[in-house]
Amino acid sequence: MTSSVPLPTFRPRRMRITPAMRRMVRETQLSPADFIVPLFVRYGAGQRVPISSMPGVYQFTVDQLADEARAIAALGIPAVILFGIPAVKDATGSDNYSAEGIVPQAIRAIKDAAPDLLVISDMCFCEYTDHGHCGIINLPGHDHYRAALPEGYLLNDPTLELLGRASVVHAEAGADVIAPSGMMDGMVAAIRAGLDGAGFDHVAVMSYAVKYASGFYGPFRDAAESPPQFGDRSQYQMDPANSREALKEAAIDVAEGADVLMVKPALPYLDILSALRTSFNLPTAAYQVSGEYAMLHAAAANGWLDLQRCALESLTAIKRAGADMILTYFAQDAARWLQE
Ligand code: PBG
Repeated sequence: MTSSVPLPTFRPRRMRITPAMRRMVRETQLSPADFIVPLFVRYGAGQRVPISSMPGVYQFTVDQLADEARAIAALGIPAVILFGIPAVKDATGSDNYSAEGIVPQAIRAIKDAAPDLLVISDMCFCEYTDHGHCGIINLPGHDHYRAALPEGYLLNDPTLELLGRASVVHAEAGADVIAPSGMMDGMVAAIRAGLDGAGFDHVAVMSYAVKYASGFYGPFRDAAESPPQFGDRSQYQMDPANSREALKEAAIDVAEGADVLMVKPALPYLDILSALRTSFNLPTAAYQVSGEYAMLHAAAANGWLDLQRCALESLTAIKRAGADMILTYFAQDAARWLQE
């Protein structure tokens, strides 16, 4: 039997015929305002030291930051996040809580040059400790040694004290946001208490709430000269196999007063990003990490991928999955591409 009423035909391609039509129905639009630029800062003068595994990314000496900060602001990018490379590393990472440490110097230089550019301070100890772990390590003979815990274990609570202290030092230098990235239990509460106690209740905390123990951080560890000297970070960073635990980590950070939740890495964890976006009402950040950047560059250098197209596609996917902001080494390039 044939019906006299024609069946409706489903033709989504109607909305894809012309560029104007595709633009009209586009759900996700990238903008330079979405990006945060990671900057590596080091001691010395007059240098921009290239990082071989991250083409176009440099370690800057402090005197180079003014120009860089102004260029970033001129592209319409709202923020940078700082990673310091100290001249001397020690057991407690003291450069991180010294007022003359590398990051406080960098914060002041950027704020002088581009006062409206937000400065986020990555708050972790791995770049600053001689053992390359993200806090104080349990070793016989050290102040905080606890015989009941394994040797080499990262001691949580003594590390919290130092995180609070360093956050205040960075806030005094002018940081707008503190971004704890060490996956210590209680890090947001400790930093919040430290900041509030020192009169910095206006300084925000962007928590690396869900940070996985990822192989994709490889090039960063060259860039920040921060590989762990023994073991790995699996005692504190999350197991890539877990997602329920991600929601638990995020809920704890919300309860402790985080202002922004971050997921890291980004592209391999879009399911996690999407779950955080729908489960919490805080702004959500995603970190497209060094390995994500390096692999696109490596493939493009071989002629296997179109760099611009794949970088913008990845950033769009990250935003589509729920990121309100993206920390990315592509920030300046992407801002330029979007203006073309
Ligand atoms: C820790 C930190 C790391 C990254 C950002 N903050 C490295 C790590 O956990 O080993 C990685 C960022 C990247 O790979 O781009 N301070």
